[in-house]
Amino acid sequence: VSDDVRRRCATVFGSDAEAYDRERPAYPAALVDALCARGGLTAGSRVVEIGCGTGKLTRALAARGLQIDAVDPSAPMLEIARRRVGADADVSFHAARFEDVDLPAGSFDAALSAAAFHWLDPRVSWSRAADLLRHDGLLGLLGQTDLWTDDTAHALTELRAALQRAAPDIAASWQPPRTLAAVRAGIEDRRGDFAEAWSWVEPHDVRDPAAAERFRDVRLDVAPVVLRRTADELIALLRTTSFHHRVNPEAWASLEDDIAALAHRLGGEIVTADAAIAVSALRV
Ligand SMILES: C[S@@+](CC[C@H](N)C(=O)[O-])C[C@H]1O[C@@H](n2cnc3c(N)ncnc32)[C@H](O)[C@@H]1O
Repeated sequence: VSDDVRRRCATVFGSDAEAYDRERPAYPAALVDALCARGGLTAGSRVVEIGCGTGKLTRALAARGLQIDAVDPSAPMLEIARRRVGADADVSFHAARFEDVDLPAGSFDAALSAAAFHWLDPRVSWSRAADLLRHDGLLGLLGQTDLWTDDTAHALTELRAALQRAAPDIAASWQPPRTLAAVRAGIEDRRGDFAEAWSWVEPHDVRDPAAAERFRDVRLDVAPVVLRRTADELIALLRTTSFHHRVNPEAWASLEDDIAALAHRLGGEIVTADAAIAVSALRV
């Protein structure tokens, strides 16, 4: 996305933070544990969380006893995060963009970010994360990707076609759905360049030379899941995405009709395969 779109979309989530918090899934414990194991993170380890939002990942990190600096520019998102993690958690919230926040260089064991790193300016994000980490510190990015499976290919193809009709220009930048084996192989092929790997698996180009220079050994952890959703459930989730804010209202209304019709054709539920992913690397 362009700088302009990135700046505009980065802030839309706070327009209905309660809906965001209600509809978006939490991150699988297995992925959080995999990141903690790789980073050698134990109670008291220092973590900067980038784009904490309503605290879905923050809660999981706080529950593991980590000492967290959580950064997000959105006041409504932070308000929910503060409430959710509670007074006992070792979390300092910073209402700021990660690019601008004032934190001590070289002092973090890990920098973690869920569904947020692509909203940062890539000319700053990779080098800023590296600057804050100690040597061998972990940068871990969590996200989600559609998966191609024989059982769900038809539903996914139909759903993607509906989304594409609503916003062909946006859909043009999406990655094709891949099998789990292809996702694994694609990250392995890009293990020397974190930004290349993340831009390959996410529908945003966040490439920058600092990623390859300052991080090593890119690795994927993955938790595949089959999702069964009614039209209403899927629409409620889609309304929390930046996609919703970029599609014009008439096209959005048609999309909701298309999704309702698709669910009806498929017997009431749209069943797709998906993977929660964690891509991580160590600071050089
Ligand atoms: C899709 S939400 C993800 C929130 C949370 N990490 C989660 O997984 O539910 C993206 C978040 O990134 C935040 N964000 C956008 N631009 C940012 C920036 N430059 N620095 C830090 N956070 C940013 C937004 O305010 C929003 O809360």
